[in-house]
Amino acid sequence: MLDFHKNHKLLVFTAFLGFAVLSTIIAILPAVQLQEVEPLPGMRELNSQELQGLQVYVSENCMSCHTQQVRNIEMDQVWGHRPSLASDYYYSKKRQDIWRQSPSLLGSERTGPDLSEIGKRQSGKEWHLLHLFNPRMVVKESIMPSYPWLFEEKSPALVTQKDVVVPVPQNLLKNPDHKLVAKPEALNLVSYLQSLVQADLGTASDPGFIPSTRQTSAPSQEENSLELDGLQLYAETCAACHQPNGEGIVGAFPPLAGSEIVTDHDPDILIQIILSGYDARPEFGAMPGFADLLTDEEIAAIANHERTSWGNEAPKVTVEQVAEIRKFILNP
Ligand code: HEC
Ligand code: HEC
Repeated sequence: MLDFHKNHKLLVFTAFLGFAVLSTIIAILPAVQLQEVEPLPGMRELNSQELQGLQVYVSENCMSCHTQQVRNIEMDQVWGHRPSLASDYYYSKKRQDIWRQSPSLLGSERTGPDLSEIGKRQSGKEWHLLHLFNPRMVVKESIMPSYPWLFEEKSPALVTQKDVVVPVPQNLLKNPDHKLVAKPEALNLVSYLQSLVQADLGTASDPGFIPSTRQTSAPSQEENSLELDGLQLYAETCAACHQPNGEGIVGAFPPLAGSEIVTDHDPDILIQIILSGYDARPEFGAMPGFADLLTDEEIAAIANHERTSWGNEAPKVTVEQVAEIRKFILNP
């Protein structure tokens, strides 16, 4: 029936179909998903100078040697305080142009270090300018290329107040009597580099790291007899990621409002996720486990808050159910 030998139209059509399906899966669907990415709380849009610097970064193709992605593995922990999230690449509401939402800066090659947090590691403007003009001046063994075209030499008489003079040794200049002045491209690029810092997620940052602000004061006798305050516990432990309104953040944390896992009649998976964490889907970050941080009573209170808030309606969880699952997880 499928006679590819004789029916060339069928052959071309089948090949085209394969091409179209693969393009949709690997290019179009991810692009559509990215349209919905929201900024993380506490993240600001790049200002116009930084956006212009981003253009310089792209046009000089710095991505060919530098990544901007902290992977969720141990060797990447030096490059950031948490693994990168899709929301980290939110630059601005404005599209770059008709064709582009934002440039792809992930990079796939680390000839030079990852730059996700370079604004924290190297915050000095002077350092960056010297480094761009000639990397060997500040890092002796560097193999990074020089970018002299981002600078110009000017005779001292022509240097104005507004010019940013870069203090390089005279012997590196073509005319030793001149001064080296950074062009706007260099200054924009440096302010872009200085802006590269991972947004803080507040209380809970690194997966596996401890949400540090939660206070573990022992409850008094009176409080003990009352039901624990699920709302308060949720705000302290979960809201930094899942947000106080339970809506989560597209590209980083899933919503708990309307979540099938949260509202499932059987709470096993919900309790298991709270105890041991969750890292199943690539479109979200990773969630740390809370087995060591929360008591069974606290977990039951949080789970019940989630199961009865934001329009969720599910039967309550008991402390005994949590204790049973904890026992099962610890000694299966
Ligand atoms: C041929 C590969 C290559 C290219 C292209 C390249 N770099 Fe580098 N870069 C390196 C290497 C190697 C290092 C590490 C040595 C050093 O600090 O100079 C580095 C270091 C850096 C550092 C310091 C990182 C740190 O952790 O201290 C910054 C900032 C930087 N590069 C920015 C840029 C920018 C901006 C561009 C584009 C204009 C660029 N690089 C292009 C290879 C490259
Ligand atoms: C560090 C950020 C972070 C914190 C803090 C956090 N979570 Fe999560 N949570 C996540 C991420 C990321 C996922 C999705 C993981 C995946 O799918 O790979 C997730 C998934 C979930 C899910 C599954 C939801 C669904 O429908 O898929 C539940 C339920 C959940 N979290 C509950 C909680 C509770 C309860 C707390 C507080 C005790 C909490 N989380 C604290 C990041 C966090």
